[in-house]
Amino acid sequence: MNIPQSVIWEKGAIQLLDQRKLPHVTEYVTLDTVPAVFDAIQSLAVRGAPAIGIAAAFGVALSAMSHPTGDIDELKEQVLIDSGYLSQSRPTAVNLFWALNRMNDAVTRAVTADELRESVVAEALAIQKEDEDVCRSIGEHALPLFKDGDRVMTICNAGSIATAKYGTALAPFFLSKERGLQLSVFACETRPVFQGARLTTWELMQAGVDVTLITDSMAAHTMKTKNITAVITGADRVAANGDSANKIGTFGLAVLAKSFGIPFYIAAPLSTFDLDTPNGDAIPIEERNPAEITEVNGMRIAPEGIAVFNPAFDVAPADLITGIITEKGIVKPNEQAIAKLFA
Ligand code: MRU
Repeated sequence: MNIPQSVIWEKGAIQLLDQRKLPHVTEYVTLDTVPAVFDAIQSLAVRGAPAIGIAAAFGVALSAMSHPTGDIDELKEQVLIDSGYLSQSRPTAVNLFWALNRMNDAVTRAVTADELRESVVAEALAIQKEDEDVCRSIGEHALPLFKDGDRVMTICNAGSIATAKYGTALAPFFLSKERGLQLSVFACETRPVFQGARLTTWELMQAGVDVTLITDSMAAHTMKTKNITAVITGADRVAANGDSANKIGTFGLAVLAKSFGIPFYIAAPLSTFDLDTPNGDAIPIEERNPAEITEVNGMRIAPEGIAVFNPAFDVAPADLITGIITEKGIVKPNEQAIAKLFA
């Protein structure tokens, strides 16, 4: 089965699948500087919470390799400055800060400059490998929620290229193919930058999963007329009480799912949970360039001078979430159950 990967560490540089060009062009670009990694994250060349964290982790490795000093204290200082810079690339996905914290710990632990350079590469590779295992495990826990013939709606892309491999919300569909279970996916196009139309459809079609594309505004009608049996999405940050931020439109799907009596699942690794954020109101929501809305593929579709509101994420409140599927199993979205996961 063809399951694509977005971040590959090769010969001391990142080979990055440029997600902005998909599905028409499958192009890997070389990133060998920290600013190039920052730009790739900010411009959505790499996107999806775990993949952002993985790219940033390799960014720290690039930082350590780019500073020639043999003085460990000087090297630590320079690498931590670069890590701080990378942390400003996007605000909502907590995996970015989680991965950078792990990298910072590896930097701080090192005793010599050579050891630091080796250990940051090893740590970034470990973060990536762990995420692949975690995603597969999320798929294993999610799969029993579905039965043969189910029709499942999703939004954005929480697939292989949003993670190390397999994805979170899309992992059960890859596994269903391996196991011969017939599941159909309805993918919301996900305005404004079409991660659903461009990326989710592309990934699932390559794997041979049955997938149908709809516009975001068709979700209610599709739930009603196409017998949607469940909704599953990824997350960028799960607060301590279970409120979950994900791509804009997710909140609306959660409200609709409740109204139709359809289970609404979030699939997210523990690295997406932020116990320091008490609830969804405290999650920073990124607002992006108005041009993402006023233009499509560089062509202006809205009048010059129009006011634009372009939040990239929204928050599905815990009471609309049936369960959060993690690598440790499915948890109820409440403070006690989530705290127990980390105990
Ligand atoms: O703006 P993006 O494309 O980075 O937003 C991505 C999402 O909202 C994903 O659903 C989320 O990061 C989960 S990825 C496994």
